[in-house]
Amino acid sequence: MSNILEVERVNLARGGLQILSELSFNVRENHITSLIGPNGAGKTTVFNAISGFMKADSGTIRFEDRVVTGMLPEKLTSKGLARTFQRVRGLPSLSVRDNLVIGAFNHTNSVKAARAQADELLEALQLTEVADANAASLPIGTRKILEVGRVLSTKPKLVLLDEVMGGLGPTEVKVMVEFIRGLPGQGVSVLLVEHHMEAVMSVSDHIIAINRGKNLAEGTPDEIANDHGVIEAYLGGGIDDGIADAEA
Ligand SMILES: Nc1ncnc2c1ncn2[C@@H]1O[C@H](COP(=O)(O)OP(=O)(O)O)[C@@H](O)[C@H]1O
Ligand SMILES: [Mg+2]
Repeated sequence: MSNILEVERVNLARGGLQILSELSFNVRENHITSLIGPNGAGKTTVFNAISGFMKADSGTIRFEDRVVTGMLPEKLTSKGLARTFQRVRGLPSLSVRDNLVIGAFNHTNSVKAARAQADELLEALQLTEVADANAASLPIGTRKILEVGRVLSTKPKLVLLDEVMGGLGPTEVKVMVEFIRGLPGQGVSVLLVEHHMEAVMSVSDHIIAINRGKNLAEGTPDEIANDHGVIEAYLGGGIDDGIADAEA
């Protein structure tokens, strides 16, 4: 079983604060791996370091066996490493469909193929009904779903999803979980950061728990839900929907 991503002993400090300390983990190809940890643990910072938005002070990041530490975001995207942002980006003045068509031009020159792929994504994300609506006119939950579609429309090999379920209603969470679950079957490996613990537990093949920028534990969802160090970190951090809720 091969790793699509390897994070090895990454250190990153900003403004006198050591945000990541010797952090190491792997993401297996065509698997769903989740990164969990209390607020401020460093999850978004790891995403920034992996996707080239922040530079690690030391350590190595490998994507498909190549060292990519310090590589610029656009270059990583063109190599097939894509990410979502906690704040929705996208092209608000375009229709939902066109937002998805444009991403497809990352890998095809055919308008017909791009439209066909957009239609598939519209269906998978249950956006068909709002396909012709202006992206800016959508409620926030739908815009977040579109943002995931937009990133996936570029056909990445690895996608980093950062809290894409925040602000979604229960039905939208179900749509998103089903969509994410289907990604490995389409050759897309997933690294997920998600506050919605029940979704994390149900969708992940493997979970990496971090605390204060350091490795805390890793294992299957069952192993993580029963890990004393993880439970303590969550309780100590005062997170509102702690890991214990996920078992209910
Ligand atoms: N550019 C930065 N400069 C200084 N501190 C930062 C910067 N980015 C993040 N931090 C700090 O690093 C810690 C981890 O943040 P973050 O990675 O956003 O955590 P998480 O996503 O796990 O909630 C927080 O204490 C945050 O304030
Ligand atoms: Mg974050």
